[in-house]
Amino acid sequence: MADHPDRARIDRLWPRVGADLDDAALVADLSSDSPVLRVNFVASVDGSATQEGRSGGLSDDADKRYFELLRRVSDVVLVGAGTVRTEGYGALRVSDDSVRWRVEHGLSEHPVFAIVSRSLDLDPAIVAEAPVRPILFTIQDALIPAALAAADVVVAGVERVEGGRILAALAERGLETVLCEGGPHLFASLLDDDVVDELCLTVSPVLEGGDGMRITSGLAERRGLEPVSILRSNSTLLLRYRRARDRGY
Ligand SMILES: NC(=O)c1ccc[n+]([C@@H]2O[C@H](COP(=O)([O-])OP(=O)(O)OC[C@H]3O[C@@H](n4cnc5c(N)ncnc54)[C@H](OP(=O)(O)O)[C@@H]3O)[C@@H](O)[C@H]2O)c1
Repeated sequence: MADHPDRARIDRLWPRVGADLDDAALVADLSSDSPVLRVNFVASVDGSATQEGRSGGLSDDADKRYFELLRRVSDVVLVGAGTVRTEGYGALRVSDDSVRWRVEHGLSEHPVFAIVSRSLDLDPAIVAEAPVRPILFTIQDALIPAALAAADVVVAGVERVEGGRILAALAERGLETVLCEGGPHLFASLLDDDVVDELCLTVSPVLEGGDGMRITSGLAERRGLEPVSILRSNSTLLLRYRRARDRGY
């Protein structure tokens, strides 16, 4: 499948140099033989995950291209309800190019949209207009609004939704390549449950200042990471890390 000619150029700096990578090369780097929970964020150089309350201002064409490719290869896109509300997520659909790639590779046309929420205070259009039945992960005793009842509602915790129970429920459904698009509270919760395998972090070339949220919020324990790859597009860096289990964290 040919790439769009106007796509943002992305080079690989490390571990192998690669100039102007096409989608196939970027996707090949993301392939995994084993189940994976990958988390994707964009942040400013000084660590802000938001610009004026949302992530969009930190993103550029390269980040958007990579964001779409991460969705392309995933069985499920997992998002916290705060992000769904703030970023205005609707029903989740990937691009036509991604649909073609997914069908060629035996995947559903669109990834499953999975949302984590205690309150289930969500726009019903997310369920009503979904191309694939979404999954709502919630807690025991949650009140399920009638407008969301058509979703696959999974109780996965008492006080909070637990990462291990999310992954077990997804695996039961054959969904093993999991992309989490945040936000910071969900990321911290998944880290505390020790279920995160990879972090993709776009570093936006700006010092944001202010008191914007970081990519984790409420993380209980320090975590170690090691780099997997470094991509670059103009002044933007796209970093990929995996967890470092052997450093005592
Ligand atoms: N820079 C980036 O790449 C990026 C990415 C994502 C988000 N953001 C930004 O982050 C901000 C939102 O941050 P946030 O931390 O509030 O986002 P969040 O983690 O998506 O939302 C928090 C909410 O998600 C639900 N939730 C998360 N973890 C849960 C758990 N373990 N159990 C039960 N419910 C859970 C709860 O929903 P209920 O309230 O419904 O119970 C909770 O109030 C926004 O400004 C957004 O723009 C930035």
